[in-house]
Amino acid sequence: MVRNDLKKVEEFVANSAIVSVLIIREMALRRTREGKPYLDLVLGDKTGRISAKVWDHGEELAKILKVGIPVGVRGQCEEYMGLPQLIVHSIKPLSSKDLNEIGISWDQFFPTTEKDKELMWQALLDAIDTMEDSWLKELTLRLYKENEEKIKTHPASLKFHHAYVGGFLEHVYTMLMIAEAAATIYPVSRDLLISGIILHDIGKLEELKGFPDNYYTDEGNLLGHTIQGFSMVRDKIREIDGFPATTARKLEHIIVAHQGEYEYQAPKKPAFPEALLVHYIDEMDARMNIMKQICEEDFSEGIWTNNRNYFRIPIMKPEEEDE
Ligand SMILES: [Fe+2]
Ligand SMILES: [Fe+2]
Repeated sequence: MVRNDLKKVEEFVANSAIVSVLIIREMALRRTREGKPYLDLVLGDKTGRISAKVWDHGEELAKILKVGIPVGVRGQCEEYMGLPQLIVHSIKPLSSKDLNEIGISWDQFFPTTEKDKELMWQALLDAIDTMEDSWLKELTLRLYKENEEKIKTHPASLKFHHAYVGGFLEHVYTMLMIAEAAATIYPVSRDLLISGIILHDIGKLEELKGFPDNYYTDEGNLLGHTIQGFSMVRDKIREIDGFPATTARKLEHIIVAHQGEYEYQAPKKPAFPEALLVHYIDEMDARMNIMKQICEEDFSEGIWTNNRNYFRIPIMKPEEEDE
């Protein structure tokens, strides 16, 4: 695979041969009417996504391919029902070493946050800096500073919401903006709310192996980010002599309850106002991001998307702004 031959998704033209480095965004093993297994994929890069089919060796490939990982792909771009589709002739997972040998760094093709990472990082530090509770301030700052590299690059999930480089940071940053406003409307502790927002998903730094590998770790699959985050926060609290017990339990509760419902990995439901706010702000930001993503990835004519999406209804796309 030679770097100069590689095409980006936006350069794919129907009836042309394609060599590319892409990420697996979705994957399903299906069967043809004759019962032959094949892989139904959505592949993507910074510039877009394309649906792809692998007609041969589907079962073997399903064992080595995973959603989120980078792959080297050769195939033919065709047109199917008016949309481009990639017929894959060969596909293989690429390690960081393979990417180095090809001469591309992973951040060149993984989708990235559109916001400025350094500005968002600074906004979080500023919010921590203005906390009045010195215990929460120290704890939050320590956990953030120690994980700075991961926080600036991690996705917030593999495909659900903010599934791109810097997605974790963008998710927390947006939630922080909403929380700052909410703290002026409801009678809540701003420090507990802000600290809860900033730390609510900290377990995702261990639940997900960051880029370029981009998969759920074994611990992530076994425990999940809610429990992992709780344990990271509790370990850090133990390092701080004299940390008040009530504040510790409340912050821990915000983390274990932030998913809101038992069926969404929450061992507890939110039991006080700051915890309830973290849950709703989290939901709000995740769903707003998913809705934006659905519209951006829809190439159909007209103002409505189809209903094969998270919300299971056609979504009305935003009007294009006049030039
Ligand atoms: Fe979460
Ligand atoms: Fe979250």
